[in-house]
Amino acid sequence: MSSLLLTGISSLVTNDPEHGPLLGELHDAALVVEGSKIAWVGSRRSAPAADSSLELGDRAVLPGFVDSHAHLVFAGDRAEEFAARMTGTPYSAGGIRTTVAATRGAADEQLAATVARLVAEMRRQGTTTVEIKSGYGLTVADEARSLAVAAEFTDETTYLGAHVVPAEFADDPAGYVDLVTGPMLTAAAKHAKWVDVFVERGAFDADQARAILRAGQAAGLAARVHANQLGEGPGVQVACEVGAAAADHCTFLTAADVDALASSGVVAGLLPAIEFSTRSPYPDARRLLDAGVTVALATDCNPGSGYSSSMPFCIALAVREMRMSPAEAVWSATAGGAAALRRTDIGRLTVGARADLAVLDAPSYLHLAYRPGVPLVTRTFIAGRPV
Ligand code: NIG
Ligand code: FE
Repeated sequence: MSSLLLTGISSLVTNDPEHGPLLGELHDAALVVEGSKIAWVGSRRSAPAADSSLELGDRAVLPGFVDSHAHLVFAGDRAEEFAARMTGTPYSAGGIRTTVAATRGAADEQLAATVARLVAEMRRQGTTTVEIKSGYGLTVADEARSLAVAAEFTDETTYLGAHVVPAEFADDPAGYVDLVTGPMLTAAAKHAKWVDVFVERGAFDADQARAILRAGQAAGLAARVHANQLGEGPGVQVACEVGAAAADHCTFLTAADVDALASSGVVAGLLPAIEFSTRSPYPDARRLLDAGVTVALATDCNPGSGYSSSMPFCIALAVREMRMSPAEAVWSATAGGAAALRRTDIGRLTVGARADLAVLDAPSYLHLAYRPGVPLVTRTFIAGRPV
């Protein structure tokens, strides 16, 4: 197994409490990668010899971003819907059905090409792990093939048959829940690690969500939830009740929701690109952090409510609009994302972790929020390999 020494690291974000609070930042640091893993982390002066070395020229190195929420398997786009929103039409999840129709009509190769394009876009922006959901198929065959396509690109695949009730079941939502918890689940579970439900007025209510998440868990999937996006509602409470890994969106929370997240340990996934693209109020990250809730930042990249694949954009929004410090936002985009996916091998640069790195053309992680919109990620490594 060959080793690579990285030097010239002006700021190294390890997320290792041994090296300091929150980000465990080291200055004038070095890092050794052996095969696919981190073998050594420390000061440049005490760096061991390695088979080869790479001088980074005083740049910042971070754990690659962990994007714990994305909907990448779809066809078409909804740029016109976005334009209408920007001139006053409110967002409604009804647009999901437009994408469902386009997705059902697309060939597998076309869906895979879209995922490949978006994953490449993400990697260029420093993302090294992405969760990918189904949810624009909503038939047994279309959900199964969406997940099969997703599984070509990630291990973090999520079955979201319960995205909305499709038009053909408009008069029989209970029949659709039976399908989602029955034959569709059986077909999806072969390719999925997670089960998700959109709990919202106009999508699924608390009882339906419980049934869907419990059925998914019985089939070996772990739960995550779309919760409290468009208004207050039962999503967060259901997520805590079933022991979900994450409750995502968390835009409209009561004090009881915040308490439930804090005491259950369910991660709050905040998705600020959605509030940006739907011109909605941002979630209050400060309130969650002050209550001791673990916060993850993710893109929620999808063709409807927000079509950004950029974790640096989410970090900048979180700092500017959600009362997070730059350090908190970077932690949430790396270690927070890993927590939301229940992963301990990613989201930090410690010995034995997967060598997933983002190198910035900047001296410090602070520049991610300080220089919004600037493509600062200059190299991305996944499992020790440049991508
Ligand atoms: O996470 N909330 C539900 N699903 C997506 C939106 C999907 C769409 O509008 O196409 C979301 O925002
Ligand atoms: Fe989503």
